[in-house]
Amino acid sequence: MSERVRVMLSEEEVDRRIQEMGEQISRDYEGKQVHLVCVLKGGSFFMCELAKRITVPVSLDFMSVSSYGSETKSSGVVRIVKDLDDPLKDKDVLVVEDIVDSGRTLSYLMEMLRDRGPRSLRLCTLLDKPERRVVDVNVDYTGFQIPDEFVVGYGLDYDQKYRNLPYIGVVEFD
Ligand code: IMP
Ligand code: MG
Repeated sequence: MSERVRVMLSEEEVDRRIQEMGEQISRDYEGKQVHLVCVLKGGSFFMCELAKRITVPVSLDFMSVSSYGSETKSSGVVRIVKDLDDPLKDKDVLVVEDIVDSGRTLSYLMEMLRDRGPRSLRLCTLLDKPERRVVDVNVDYTGFQIPDEFVVGYGLDYDQKYRNLPYIGVVEFD
């Protein structure tokens, strides 16, 4: 069985949208420093591109989480694989994610980060699949709403592959 990737959002479309998001975020955080929290690994490509286009002062931190086994997954409990280096207290925190799907990971993560006392806490995602939502998540900045298809590229993987594609695509098998 061979795999092909069909382009859903071209490199130019993604770049253009990230530029717009960077401008919007720069306006919204005028006079402040924005602390970007990247959810590894998927969020890393988007975070770098976004950070380059933000014109207010930026600091960065990274964390990695994984869902507990499928039996407990519906509870939305996630395990921290790598925690942040710095406290969030009194920071204007913007969480940067690749995609919001069921919403389980993000709703749990946002609660947990809120408990650390940031001055403000918002969520920015490159992609959103609203049809798949199981748990409500308040998304402040969305790059693209996409249909319920499994996508790769720009940090998103299929079996750890395709993260490096500079566009968003759908894996097709034949
Ligand atoms: P959620 O808790 O279901 O919202 O899970 C979101 C996570 O599942 C994302 O951060 C991705 O790691 C992964 N994911 C969801 N949809 C896709 C997809 O279409 N392609 C690749 N990874 C996905
Ligand atoms: Mg992710």
